[in-house]
Amino acid sequence: MTGDPPTLRTRFTERFGVRHPIVCAPMALVTGGRLARAVSRAGALGVIGGGYAGTLGGEPDLDAELALARRDQFGVGFITWALAQAPERLDAALAFNPACVFLSFGDPRPFAPAIRKAGAKLICQVQSLRHIDEAIDAGAEAIVAQGTEAGGHGGDRSTLAFVPEAADHISRRSPDTLLLAAGGIADGRGLAAALMLGADGVVVGTRFWASAEALTPEAATDRAGQATGDNTVRTTAIDALRGTPWPAEFSFRVLENDLTQAWAGREAEAATAFGSLKAVYDEARATGDLRTAAVVVGEAVGLVRGRPPAAAIVDSMITEAWARLSGAAARLTRPGNWPAPLHH
Ligand SMILES: Cc1cc2nc3c(=O)[nH]c(=O)nc-3n(C[C@H](O)[C@H](O)[C@H](O)COP(=O)(O)O)c2cc1C
Repeated sequence: MTGDPPTLRTRFTERFGVRHPIVCAPMALVTGGRLARAVSRAGALGVIGGGYAGTLGGEPDLDAELALARRDQFGVGFITWALAQAPERLDAALAFNPACVFLSFGDPRPFAPAIRKAGAKLICQVQSLRHIDEAIDAGAEAIVAQGTEAGGHGGDRSTLAFVPEAADHISRRSPDTLLLAAGGIADGRGLAAALMLGADGVVVGTRFWASAEALTPEAATDRAGQATGDNTVRTTAIDALRGTPWPAEFSFRVLENDLTQAWAGREAEAATAFGSLKAVYDEARATGDLRTAAVVVGEAVGLVRGRPPAAAIVDSMITEAWARLSGAAARLTRPGNWPAPLHH
């Protein structure tokens, strides 16, 4: 590609003042200040993973990560039910002047006034229409419809049907609210498809999880490099066994390993054994024993190879989406002419 890279302008790029309609997900233990900064400098929006707001143990020092990104536009994200246990972490993060606060997994409404007062935009990630209504009531600037393909925690709806239904629902209730799509989007094909489904942009996790700037351990990306999308599972057993009190409506998508295989189909039993493997799990996480500790990726792991710089990921997503979208209608009359994937 020569000359200026193409740009895809959407309501999201205009409203958030970014060049590209791509957000790097606030991945707990993964999206630190370096990754968020690299994504933002590439023209997209990097959101630092505030995760469990320090309640999990073993999380990176959030203040230090925020300090790394503070010269650039960045956001910060929290797991909402965990933030409710440490609400002072929101005020501490707001002191760094994030452009946005990204809340998922719980009722965002109690936190919205403080976020608004600080001049930050609220982004709410949702998994159902009921969540969308809560996000609209909270005054969210953007709502992320997260499909079940996503890595990490999520719900049961699939991206392909949930995103357009969310678009219809939002346009009826609150047409100015932006919609982003998440779950399984790892290249320009996914970005182009999400825009066609009615999204104003995309939230990308798994692809940035395997980027040069992510906090992800090498051993985890090495393992993921051998995996396909067939090798992930959604489970509630891990959270039960390690004693992390996730609300029942959410499960955890990870790469299968010895632990997920041992507990497959035994989720009710795991629930009654709540916290019984906490010490074992924490030890495995600390020592990098991936037979027990989870490698947290979504189905898109099968689209992810290597660990390129975040800027290269942004550029190739935009370039490929542009190639797919420009002239697509004309090309459909000559289907043999679809552009080949650029980097797979
Ligand atoms: C390693 C990892 C950690 C994640 N941690 C969080 C988190 O702390 N908070 C959150 O809102 N979403 C989290 N997510 C989910 C993302 O926000 C996003 O919905 C998801 O990554 C999108 O799907 P994809 O992984 O297929 O790109 C995480 C995802 C991954 C892969």
